[in-house]
Amino acid sequence: MSGFEGLTVVVSGGSSGIGAAAAAAFAERGANVAVLDLNPSEAHWSTRCDVADDNQVRLAVAAAVEQFGGVDVLVNNAGIGAVGTVEDNSDKQWFRVLDVNLLGMVRLSRACLPHLRESASPAIVNTTSIAATAGLVNRALYSASKGAVHALTLAMAADHVAEGIRVNAVSPGTADTPWVGRLLEQADDPAAERARLEARQPTGRLVTPEEVASAIVYLADPVNRAVTGTSLAVDGGVAGLRIVKG
Ligand SMILES: NC(=O)c1ccc[n+]([C@@H]2O[C@H](COP(=O)([O-])OP(=O)(O)OC[C@H]3O[C@@H](n4cnc5c(N)ncnc54)[C@H](O)[C@@H]3O)[C@@H](O)[C@H]2O)c1
Repeated sequence: MSGFEGLTVVVSGGSSGIGAAAAAAFAERGANVAVLDLNPSEAHWSTRCDVADDNQVRLAVAAAVEQFGGVDVLVNNAGIGAVGTVEDNSDKQWFRVLDVNLLGMVRLSRACLPHLRESASPAIVNTTSIAATAGLVNRALYSASKGAVHALTLAMAADHVAEGIRVNAVSPGTADTPWVGRLLEQADDPAAERARLEARQPTGRLVTPEEVASAIVYLADPVNRAVTGTSLAVDGGVAGLRIVKG
């Protein structure tokens, strides 16, 4: 029997990419899955929710609790991108990206914590990024939002460890999701751009959403009770390896 049988997992941004793969992985392991997303999920119980709207978040969590009776795992995964240096994005863009990527996780955690306290195996997993800890060109706003998520993960892990609530992050490298597909479509030569992204990876290929989902499942799994306040890289080795060829 899977460790997720009978548990309820809330996944934000669970209708696409990494979130959809995580939702599928939890469902395969017997969990009740509640997807909170701007777009409804075709595969799981879901409710439309903009994580930038506190009222929508509270109503969506209440609806999931009414449907399944509680929340055991929260996967804070919804996120949006931004391109540019610190000179390129307007204040409006900064507020929007931080509102979704950072405050979205704050709002959902706040709404779920009373329910997590009722769970025998509570866990929160936040999706951060390699951009949280490595300086990437043209990603000032996005990196700042994910760096804040990284710090928030550690602070929340400290705040809630005494209550038995584990808080961890997964840090994907470039993953083959619709998000990256949209970026490639905007390139002058999408095939060449994809080849460039693949060549950047020590593994020579992009990370799959299923590989990130597998790490999210690991971090949420009740058997891994000693794992809290950590960030697990699933990035094909980009963060840690220096490959010198020849
Ligand atoms: N794809 C990558 O290379 C990569 C790398 C590192 C980190 N990430 C992170 O992984 C997460 C998922 O990315 P993905 O590549 O699967 O993207 P995606 O665009 O395929 O999926 C994102 C999902 O989030 C939803 N969403 C967006 N804004 C929302 C909002 N305000 N409220 C509710 N839902 C919202 C979208 O509707 C979509 O279903 C993001 O947090 C992203 O920053 C992605």
